[in-house]
Amino acid sequence: MRSLRRAKIMGTGMYLPEKRLTNADLEKMVDTTDEWIVTRSGIRERRIAEPDQAVSDLAVPAAQMALKNAGIAPEQIGCVILASFTPDRTISATACIIQHKLGCKNAGAFDIEVACSGFIYATTLGRSLIETHVCDYVLVIGADILSKVIDFTDRNTCVLFGDGAGAVVLGPSANEDEGIFDVLLGADGGGADHITIPAGGTQMPTTVKTVEDRLHYVKINGKEVFKFSTKIVGDMIEQVLTRNNLTLDNVKLIIPHQANIRIIESAAKRFNCPMDKFFINLDRYGNTVAGTIPIGLHEALGEGKINKGDIVLLAGFGGGLTWGLVAMKW
Ligand SMILES: CC(C)(COP(=O)(O)OP(=O)(O)OC[C@H]1O[C@@H](n2cnc3c(N)ncnc32)[C@H](O)[C@@H]1OP(=O)(O)O)[C@@H](O)C(=O)NCCC(=O)NCCS
Repeated sequence: MRSLRRAKIMGTGMYLPEKRLTNADLEKMVDTTDEWIVTRSGIRERRIAEPDQAVSDLAVPAAQMALKNAGIAPEQIGCVILASFTPDRTISATACIIQHKLGCKNAGAFDIEVACSGFIYATTLGRSLIETHVCDYVLVIGADILSKVIDFTDRNTCVLFGDGAGAVVLGPSANEDEGIFDVLLGADGGGADHITIPAGGTQMPTTVKTVEDRLHYVKINGKEVFKFSTKIVGDMIEQVLTRNNLTLDNVKLIIPHQANIRIIESAAKRFNCPMDKFFINLDRYGNTVAGTIPIGLHEALGEGKINKGDIVLLAGFGGGLTWGLVAMKW
């Protein structure tokens, strides 16, 4: 049996649709104001996919960019994992469609659905495949098209979300001191109803009535999710730091899920640390669900905010309820 080896992120990529939907646009659609959206969430605009774009159409260019940046050919990929709750269709898995479009002909492929924590869970799986020598290189993608499952007559939800995709290539680290050194996963299914699409599954199959009652759109209990999120972000950061004998001073950057600026501010307040410890792009893209963290990571690298040897934390939380954290040394 071969010994475990450490996995690291070798390259990143992202893709965002061109079309912008601003708060001023939303003011014309529902009873809301730019001022309310900015002060309650921090979001100013978000991207919207074209009617003929499916999640695989966003995922493929993000993945191609990650492959190019990693210097890895599609045939070298051993597994494609897509985190998304807005797949192209229920079956086949969208990861298979992506695998085919990319030409990853030596790869297995599967989807996971863990909503806003999806990229963290998918990265955790990819890391294990590499550590245990099942694969040498794994493509992990987080992508969602919320604009197709959001009710644009419901001001409680339509202002919060956007469309986008991010991707990473994971591979073995040559150096034991580099790469993913800890992960944390958590769930509380008692909160499953707080973020949901009520109809269209086996619990409530699609009928004319479910469509008429608008039950195929995302419903959120914003207050409960907000309460949960503000606590869990700090809790998981603290847990991982403590068990690795680290303090926040050792951490260069935290890339949190981009749901609401006030959730991130509350974590900064809890640790009494400056906001620039946290990467933020929700003002430009809103909450792209599984896309937020890999998009954030790609942008943070592009902006020179992460350098070799830096400790970086990726922190996801949301539907399920679920949460998860990936800790790595760059
Ligand atoms: C949704 C969210 C921004 C609301 O912020 P909040 O501070 O809880 O909201 P408040 O309590 O201040 O305000 C709620 C009021 O604003 C109203 N409101 C909701 N959306 C609005 C909008 N777009 N424009 C204006 N008013 C709005 C509500 O109807 C409610 O009115 P009421 O009190 O008369 O019933 C916040 O709770 C949040 O970000 N929650 C998490 C979101 C989420 O689930 N994301 C996905 C998973 S990570």
